[in-house]
Amino acid sequence: MQKKISLAVIKRLPKYYRYLGELNSKGIDRISSKDLSELMGFTASQIRQDLNNFGGFGQQGYGYNVENLMSEIAKLLGLENNYKAVVIGLGNLGQGLANYETFSDSGFNIVGLFDINPKLIGKSVRGIEIKNIDLMDSFVKSNNVEIAMLCVPKDKASELSEKLCELGIKGIWNFAPIDLKVKNKNVVVENVHLSESLMTLSYRIKNKDL
Ligand code: NAI
Repeated sequence: MQKKISLAVIKRLPKYYRYLGELNSKGIDRISSKDLSELMGFTASQIRQDLNNFGGFGQQGYGYNVENLMSEIAKLLGLENNYKAVVIGLGNLGQGLANYETFSDSGFNIVGLFDINPKLIGKSVRGIEIKNIDLMDSFVKSNNVEIAMLCVPKDKASELSEKLCELGIKGIWNFAPIDLKVKNKNVVVENVHLSESLMTLSYRIKNKDL
């Protein structure tokens, strides 16, 4: 059985995946932990430790095979699942997400868009029509949608998320400014608050932490 990997390591894996993807797109097929550490700003020993957590794959004098490592990380992160996702709330943020083609490169395929605003319903983003929120239930069920990207106002987020849980959704990527919790413990919620990152930037500017 695979050993349990700490959440701290899991949170670093997407960053490894991104850097390795860049190397891969440049045709680089192997990299040493030293070179990877210079590129990513982690120490070489941190990198060895992180990657050893799931079997290493680094070889003395060879380094890491970029493609193998990427595919192992993809497996660990479950990216090979090719998730189906819907965006709920197609205002500024929701349209931005819906327009971002690159999510599908990591296995997140946006298949449906839903809003309550009649001015938006019927319009399309990247060829996908924005549908009335009333059609969300049947769409999510019949298409086995696994992920909802929630971009609605704060006061709508809880109600919608409970509804999504009832429909069998597996994960909610919540952008509404609330630490969303759902009753169904099998549904995973990832809250994203860009302003927290912005406040960290402010701290670093203030403290000259460049
Ligand atoms: P917006 O007002 O442009 O878009 C909200 C959309 O949700 C509208 O199109 C509206 O018609 C729709 N909506 C409202 N109730 C709905 C319902 N019951 N079902 C379906 N659609 C519904 O707002 P914006 O700027 O796109 O922001 C969206 C949310 O994301 C807000 O809660 C905002 O505070 C938050 N936000 C979060 C950020 C973050 O870092 N987490 C960054 C920016 C915005």
